[in-house]
Amino acid sequence: MHRYTDYSLLPHNTFGMDVKAAFFVEYTSVDDLQTVLAERRRAGAEDRLLPIGGGSNLLFGGDFSGTVLHSAIRGMMPVAEDDSHVWVKVGAGEVWDDFVAHCVDRGWYGAENLSAIPGEVGASAVQNIGAYGAEVKDLITEVEVVEVATGALRLIPAADCRYAYRQSIFKNEWKGRFIVTHVTYRLGKQPDFRLDYGNLRTELEGKPLTLATVREAVRRIRDSKLPDPRKQGNAGSFFMNPVVERPCFERIRADYPSMPFYEVDADHVKIPAGWMIDQCGWKGRALGRAGVHDRQALVLVNRGGATGAEVMALAEAVRRDVKEKFGVEIHPEVNYIV
Ligand code: EPU
Repeated sequence: MHRYTDYSLLPHNTFGMDVKAAFFVEYTSVDDLQTVLAERRRAGAEDRLLPIGGGSNLLFGGDFSGTVLHSAIRGMMPVAEDDSHVWVKVGAGEVWDDFVAHCVDRGWYGAENLSAIPGEVGASAVQNIGAYGAEVKDLITEVEVVEVATGALRLIPAADCRYAYRQSIFKNEWKGRFIVTHVTYRLGKQPDFRLDYGNLRTELEGKPLTLATVREAVRRIRDSKLPDPRKQGNAGSFFMNPVVERPCFERIRADYPSMPFYEVDADHVKIPAGWMIDQCGWKGRALGRAGVHDRQALVLVNRGGATGAEVMALAEAVRRDVKEKFGVEIHPEVNYIV
């Protein structure tokens, strides 16, 4: 276990905000986490507690006066297997894409469309990460958590996690109550590819269809659109794609017949926020040192030295314009820490 005071969060947030945490604790086991929480209970600590993963979905408004907890719990352990599936228990501190690579190397199906998503395994279960027609909720069978108030270890079956598009019970009703320590995923042993999202199938044309080629295709598509946080600070999609009622969708489509969309159910349709922001003319534009990425308008970038407040001001201006043009509210996917 490592403990630091007045600790720079620059390596822990992909937006590249140069902010500090009053306290920072990195733990490598469930025991260590329980020890830290027990100490806090004994000391009657009342400062804020912020568990973070890879910091790829966080926007700090300034220095954080509480305690940041970072999991360095590692390990990818097969825990069960049958003819068709393997169950793997993974430490919350593993890098998500390392786990995807591990699955692809072993011939386990299901995670390949989620290649190259920044962040760590613990956050995958909180955010319900998704890309190219796949969502991690369809792989998760169980989430192991520690309860902050008591230190008790609990196993939450996926069915109880209230998973929905970029949502889970850990972001809503149970926000702040539990810290994820391990996630168990179920992967397939037989080929079962999902290639119908966007241009994934086109990207694979002329190539053999294998886990490795799908992973490479996803990486190429992402690289062509999404900025590398090591070169330009960003947190991937800044907003969630809004799910609107069908009459609202029909109203907008009457004016924009070529608008892209995804069917959700009989009454709802999802509209790409990036397309709407693009239509508002924001793509490639800046406000102060924060900007809208020039290849994917859903991504806000730090053009160098931006503060959290500058990014938030840009997000607000974008949100306002989308509301004015389309009558649709868009909401950040990124978590504001203010
Ligand atoms: N579009 C534009 N202009 C833009 C951006 C997008 O016209 O500036 C159009 C595209 O042409 C396309 C549609 O909008 O027709 C959708 O774009 P894209 O396929 O790039 O996906 P997205 O809906 O913008 C979502 C996820 C991404 C994920 C991709 C691929 C959310 C909030 N974002 O983006 O996830 O990689 O689909 O599955 O759902 C992330 O969460 O950080 C993330 C990158």
